[in-house]
Amino acid sequence: MPSYQRPNIQAMAGYTWGEQPDDRRTIKLNTNENPYPPSPAVDEAIAAITGTDLRRYPQPTADPLRVEIAKTHGIEQNQIVITNGGDEALRLAITTFVEPTATIAVTEPSYSLYPVLADIHGSQMLRIKLGESWEFPENFAQRANEAGAQLTCIVNPHAPSGTLVDTETLSTLADALDGVLLVDEAYVDFVDPELDYDCTSLINKHDNVLVLRSFSKGYGLAGMRLGYLFGTETLIDPIITKTRDSYNIDHISQAVGLAAFTDQAYAQNTWTAVREQRNLVRNALLQLGLESPPSQTNFILATVTIESPANAEALYEALKNAGILVRYFPTMKDKLRITIGTPQENEQLIATLTKLLT
Ligand SMILES: Cc1ncc(COP(=O)(O)O)c(C=O)c1O
Repeated sequence: MPSYQRPNIQAMAGYTWGEQPDDRRTIKLNTNENPYPPSPAVDEAIAAITGTDLRRYPQPTADPLRVEIAKTHGIEQNQIVITNGGDEALRLAITTFVEPTATIAVTEPSYSLYPVLADIHGSQMLRIKLGESWEFPENFAQRANEAGAQLTCIVNPHAPSGTLVDTETLSTLADALDGVLLVDEAYVDFVDPELDYDCTSLINKHDNVLVLRSFSKGYGLAGMRLGYLFGTETLIDPIITKTRDSYNIDHISQAVGLAAFTDQAYAQNTWTAVREQRNLVRNALLQLGLESPPSQTNFILATVTIESPANAEALYEALKNAGILVRYFPTMKDKLRITIGTPQENEQLIATLTKLLT
């Protein structure tokens, strides 16, 4: 039987998503969702939507949301495109800026969706290994340029390590790269404000920088699929006018996204709570012998070097049996990625780990 698939689709493996149990009892620390629900303004926005609102197509470019985001970032509305999650933003960046068969550069490790999207597009992947402390190798830009990378995706703060590079490093990289630099800031809301990290200025300084944001983590809306890209108008305009689906953001998502984004105070309180818990969880992990780099995200990457109860995979299984889901990646055999939960969830995690490891 013919498969009818394009050869690259036939040959590729799809994305492996994290387990999504439908019971409410599992402590779910495996897909980096916000442990807190979205702002109560979201409930009000949902309650205000009627079937009649859905009769017509939505506002084509999600303008009320773009206006609000522009105001908050101090940029222009035409420097923003709203997308169905950060994932659609990545797909659009590839569709718009990468010739099929050309190269996309990423760090190794990084977000496991990048190679999947490259496979779909038919592009080559250049994976540049990060150093021992998750730092870029010195010749990063040179290697990307030599491979003809038309797009380079950098996750900052980095997933899965949680570490952060500063904006000067990104600015130097943007200068040195021949292609577009996409800074994937899916986790940026959890960065310590004292670090003064802010990529917004980069988009006015560099005509090849795109910044990705997600509503999934910071705004507690992973179930909604909402994100955005910002950059110079020359990068954003072809996405708005040519490559995205017409009406890509439905009416409900626009209304809910606007409600969540406008209530910055609520969202920021959840970020502060996550930061506080992140420190407590990391200290507890270190005391248990689970090394982990300081994280600027809502997760921690723990290295399991101890032999009880064997290795990272065994520990993942033991936690799962105890009703706690964390993420184990077969590509990182000695590591577990653990999302920061509510104080109660974190307490239970630490108590269970203590039982398993001591
Ligand atoms: C590094 C990174 N980028 C982008 C995304 C996409 O996020 P979403 O599509 O949920 O907005 C994720 C989601 O886990 C991620 O980890």
